[in-house]
Amino acid sequence: MTALSSLSRGLAAPRGFVDASFHPPPGAIRLLAGIPAPEALPAEAIAEASAELWRDHDAAAAAVQYSPAQGFTGLREWIARREDVDPRRIVVTNGGMHGLTLAVLTVVERGATVAVDDPVFPGFLWALDVATTRILPVPVLADGFDVQHLAGRLAAGARIAAAYTVPDFHNPAQASLSAEKRHGLVELAERHGFYVIVDNPYRELRFAGQELGVAAFNESDRVIHVNTFTKTLGPGWRVGWLVLPEHLVEPVIRLRGRLDVHTSSVTQAIVERLVTRDDHWYDGVVRSATRLYRERAGVLVDALHEQLPGAFEIRAPEGGLFLWPRLTDDSIDPGALFRRAAANGVVYQQGEFFAADPEQLSSARHLRFAYSDRTPDELNEAVRRLAAAFPGGSR
Ligand SMILES: Cc1ncc(COP(=O)(O)O)c(C=O)c1O
Repeated sequence: MTALSSLSRGLAAPRGFVDASFHPPPGAIRLLAGIPAPEALPAEAIAEASAELWRDHDAAAAAVQYSPAQGFTGLREWIARREDVDPRRIVVTNGGMHGLTLAVLTVVERGATVAVDDPVFPGFLWALDVATTRILPVPVLADGFDVQHLAGRLAAGARIAAAYTVPDFHNPAQASLSAEKRHGLVELAERHGFYVIVDNPYRELRFAGQELGVAAFNESDRVIHVNTFTKTLGPGWRVGWLVLPEHLVEPVIRLRGRLDVHTSSVTQAIVERLVTRDDHWYDGVVRSATRLYRERAGVLVDALHEQLPGAFEIRAPEGGLFLWPRLTDDSIDPGALFRRAAANGVVYQQGEFFAADPEQLSSARHLRFAYSDRTPDELNEAVRRLAAAFPGGSR
């Protein structure tokens, strides 16, 4: 008999995203993952910064030693300037998922209820599993997390330890939380004494519309703000950060002393060198990436309108890496469409995998297309293959 802890046993079967037994056919165009385009990553600068590090005797020696649990000072100061907070509130993490898990372990009691976006980024439910599986799904509307809905549930007696939302260019629902609702959510948290876990990896990737800002989140000691370099410098770095209210900094650091001690000194040293090389370098990386993503989003939306007119309700993305169109014809079975599309050589994420509430499956009539790492030619061809999978389409 294998003696697993109850925590380990509870982590057995994460749900969300394509099922693990599904293998796209060879040659399929994959619209699956919200990852940076390889050509948007600053490969040359990375090579230079890495070489410089190992040539600098003192820096190289420090990079292979332990470093402060909270993160490299220069990196934290740079992040703090961008977040407009005191550097004492920044903790460098091993990416966004790590930040989410640290947040959960710090403020969610075992078995407590947590309000979550519906549809939800499934990774958060995995992170949440370390403390609880009890969730209160909150619809994500065109202007983000439905604060009124949550207020109604709380007024009716619901009790939550935290509320989780992605406020900018939501994964998967594209929406951004309106400025008014940012304040409304924070006020609600303060009134009822829960934490808001704000997950913001797409914030930088705006290519249209007005920035909505994070001031409302920074000003409250009820907000844990999670971010990552994954979408701009690449997921492999495993470097992200938390903006914490001051009273949570020590508890998070104490927790890390039991887990990973600190984020790799080597990766922090390289990332710090990159972002601090001059004041505008990182903005330049983000600007050229968003230019690419704006073009790709446009190609995808145009192709869908041209090749599948009326088949979807579509909102043109203002940023981020996803399109979340909704099937307009209720007679189409999304699962059958997916299987035909896969057989035709295009794969995407089915909306049902993002439903927070498995009873409701409110997102089952949506498809999630990730367009960032596909070329315009691939996107046009992907839509052609998808169109052929619709009833009446030719193979
Ligand atoms: C909403 C959201 N949060 C967190 C993450 C995880 O980021 P990381 O790769 O830095 O762990 C992702 C990645 O897809 C995401 O979409």
